[in-house]
Amino acid sequence: MEIEKESTLKGVHVLITGASRGLGLSIAKRLKTEGVKLSLLARNLGELEEVKAGLGQGCRVFGADITDNTAVAKALEYFRAEHGPVDILINNAGSGSYTPFGELTTEEIDQTYSVNVTAVARLIHAVLPDLKKSSDARILNVASDLARRPLANMAAYSSAKHAAAGLSQSLARELKEDGIRVMLLNPGVIDTWFGGSPKGQVPPPYGLNADHVADVVCFMLTRPAYLLMDEVSLHPMKQPEF
Ligand SMILES: NC(=O)c1ccc[n+]([C@@H]2O[C@H](COP(=O)([O-])OP(=O)(O)OC[C@H]3O[C@@H](n4cnc5c(N)ncnc54)[C@H](OP(=O)(O)O)[C@@H]3O)[C@@H](O)[C@H]2O)c1
Repeated sequence: MEIEKESTLKGVHVLITGASRGLGLSIAKRLKTEGVKLSLLARNLGELEEVKAGLGQGCRVFGADITDNTAVAKALEYFRAEHGPVDILINNAGSGSYTPFGELTTEEIDQTYSVNVTAVARLIHAVLPDLKKSSDARILNVASDLARRPLANMAAYSSAKHAAAGLSQSLARELKEDGIRVMLLNPGVIDTWFGGSPKGQVPPPYGLNADHVADVVCFMLTRPAYLLMDEVSLHPMKQPEF
């Protein structure tokens, strides 16, 4: 019996949101070593240009807010013109804050759902025609361990990530008919700039090193095409409340 081969990343067009820093940047660096064509999106174009200079050839960047449909459409137009149709979409951009629910403004509540759920659904919808053309299409959605458990003072973020998990798992079942693998990654605490805190505050074993999470992302994406890792969760050994 023939052994199923690993899925390749060489020459594949990968679009990553939130790739200017944190986990998105680590994923970009890791996948670059596999020979992908990278399309990177975040709001701060200056930071993205620095990332591009560091990554070198085969990397394109576009400054856009994922909640701005017009800007995202322009970004997709640019990325497709440079690299062709998207083969892999990594929905990594996300935001939230540790704040008592009553102290959030209504704008902050709307923004939390908009970034973590609505923009993710809209981007998948926009990229779907590309993915249906690909011979080995993959979507990887970064949610959170809070997509599977509640946490006080993170009600909007946790409920938004619960919705993102529902979206991901529903689409995993729907899009397998088109040969598209939809994967969900639920990390615990990662040592990044998330929530406005500077990187370095939660080093291992209290927080995950983003490069180690990126290794897991690469592993998930490179399983043989018949094998779907539909949900993976990760935690640092000393994460409180786990
Ligand atoms: N860090 C954790 O403890 C943790 C735990 C579980 C899950 N996560 C999830 O992991 C993912 C990555 O977060 P991170 O920890 O790497 O955070 P981070 O260091 O704050 O990075 C967030 C990235 O997303 C971009 N971004 C944020 N809002 C955006 C928007 N509206 N439009 C476009 N880009 C946007 C940021 O760039 P700009 O600011 O320039 O837009 C940045 O590149 C998120 O989905 C987060 O919810 C994080």
